[in-house]
Amino acid sequence: MPSKLSEEISPFYVMEVLERAKEIEASGGSVIHFEVGMPDFSTPAVICEAAVRAIREGDTRYTHSLGILELREAISEDYENTYGVKVSPGNVIVTMGSSPALFLSMLALLDPGDEIIITDPHYACYPQLIKIAGGVPRTVRVYEEEGYQIDAGRLRKAITKRTKAVLINSPGNPTGTLLGPDVIRDVASLGVPVISDEIYHGLVYGGEAKTILEFTENAIAVNGFSKLYSMPGWRLGYLIVPEEFVRPLQKLQQNLFISPNPFVQRAGVAAIKHGKREALGMVGEFDRRRRAMLEGLRELGFVLGTEPLGAFYVFVNASGISPDSHALAFDILENAHVAVTPGIDFGQGGEGYLRFSYAASVSDIEEGMSRLGKYLDERKNKSR
Ligand SMILES: Cc1ncc(COP(=O)(O)O)c(C=O)c1O
Repeated sequence: MPSKLSEEISPFYVMEVLERAKEIEASGGSVIHFEVGMPDFSTPAVICEAAVRAIREGDTRYTHSLGILELREAISEDYENTYGVKVSPGNVIVTMGSSPALFLSMLALLDPGDEIIITDPHYACYPQLIKIAGGVPRTVRVYEEEGYQIDAGRLRKAITKRTKAVLINSPGNPTGTLLGPDVIRDVASLGVPVISDEIYHGLVYGGEAKTILEFTENAIAVNGFSKLYSMPGWRLGYLIVPEEFVRPLQKLQQNLFISPNPFVQRAGVAAIKHGKREALGMVGEFDRRRRAMLEGLRELGFVLGTEPLGAFYVFVNASGISPDSHALAFDILENAHVAVTPGIDFGQGGEGYLRFSYAASVSDIEEGMSRLGKYLDERKNKSR
């Protein structure tokens, strides 16, 4: 019999939208995809070539459990060059994506019943990862009217004796919010360890993404290659951790994963050393799409209380159309063939909202907006 945990774990609704969209496509329909949370660009050739070279050279064995030194050094240089923070390669742990990095950090922090504070709305998998690691997720609401910034007063009130960390994510999924430096400073000054999910760093269109390490050493930075370098399927990420966590995390990694993939790590070195120019090109294109999507949504009458400045998402209040985001997302998919993610996927604070991903071409964005316009008109006419 499957365990209670595995039976009770919430599904990732976006995958269910995607799976239904694929069924519609398989039966001949054309769907515009605004649900997917991954870049649609090919991985830059210079990165692919490094992996192929590594495989040809026979680099197909387990590596050091913390990752190859060349990549750990490249990551520490990258953090120094980008943010001016000193990171020793000895404090970098390479993982198979930022998801395992997040999970490992929770396993390293939590005893059964300990708590991690997350925002609401939040990235859909956070509560699940915390629960699988034996912990309890506690939420602090963030509001569109406040630009989804974290209020330190509200956060302080959520801290209990069991709080082991505050988990922040900037630029954030699902809101595209960039936390202000003062907000990150406030979070860092609470005296609670901070896990900072920096997976969308680099995908910023105004303002500046700050690493938590600029504010405190009492922190774990989580990052990866899926988004900025368009490498979601490669599964490569990393952790930057205080010294006391290196050995515990190494033991967890050895038992759970043995080591990250060798040729993918070589590709990671190429990404940092030679992939920046192409990554910048993709960021420019994302910004063009962001503007097209914001314009399209505003023309349809959606009101955006704050402009997303990072990642590739727009979180839209659709409660005037329906308060039930799950029903609305599936109704839009069935009737307009536009796939969007229901806000409820991201916590109770996301209910009534829809997440639009602009990891889609400008022509798809225009077509999607036109379909959505027709859908909204028909819905209005029906309710008359
Ligand atoms: C906020 C956030 N963190 C982590 C991840 C996981 O990324 P990966 O495991 O591909 O590095 C995602 C993926 O969408 C994300 O949106």
